[in-house]
Amino acid sequence: MEKMISCFLLLVGVFLIAARERRVPESLSSQRNDALLLEEFCSDKRLDLVFIIDSSRSVRPYDFEKVKEFILNILQFLDIRPDVTRVGLIQYGSTVKNEFSLKTFARKQDMERAVRRMMYLSTGTMTGLAIQFAVNIAFSETEGARPLSQNVPRVIMIVTDGRPQDPVAEIAAKARNSGILIFAIGVGRVDMNTLKSIGSEPYEDHVFLVANFSQIETLTSVFQNKLCGKAVN
Ligand SMILES: *[C@@H]1O[C@H](CO)[C@@H](O)[C@H](O)[C@H]1NC(C)=O
Repeated sequence: MEKMISCFLLLVGVFLIAARERRVPESLSSQRNDALLLEEFCSDKRLDLVFIIDSSRSVRPYDFEKVKEFILNILQFLDIRPDVTRVGLIQYGSTVKNEFSLKTFARKQDMERAVRRMMYLSTGTMTGLAIQFAVNIAFSETEGARPLSQNVPRVIMIVTDGRPQDPVAEIAAKARNSGILIFAIGVGRVDMNTLKSIGSEPYEDHVFLVANFSQIETLTSVFQNKLCGKAVN
């Protein structure tokens, strides 16, 4: 009898271990399913979207990878095609580096590869300069922005973790007044007033603060709703 019980307990133990091991791939596959669902959700959404990514020294390499993951997650649910959603990517430190323009990639796979290959700059925090670059260059028709007459929503998503070394309020206001919707995402000890001077109003819909770069992924579903839904029109 005792043998039977210990044999039974052993079997239960093996079963539990096996169940736990199985859980990892299961959650991976359900993530993949979510991604497919998300992809359908944003279909046919006309949008010109430019990411502006802080690449200052305070953003450590591990954090920078988290930002890349976040961008890749957002790309998953976008309908990237030249006549639907176009995406550009800028990173900035003490200078501004255009990674790709709105017109650069017609296929999502090519864009994803470029995001993965993006190299971290590790210099200053010229946030104002980066927004100015977006307004003057990234959203120009020569760089692939669709003409204003087509009424394609223009959106900036800016991710920053620090205090800008240059004035941002005025240039961000100029961007918003030109019809660009700005989502400002702050990470860590970012000054909320600075974020508010960048993002569009109402702030509760466009300005976000997360504790650290690992937390940024919690915003993915928020942006799925915002970018695909009626909020961006
Ligand atoms: C990030 O912030 C969350 C929430 O405050 C915390 O639980 C987590 O430990 C932090 N992660 C890192 C890597 O600091």
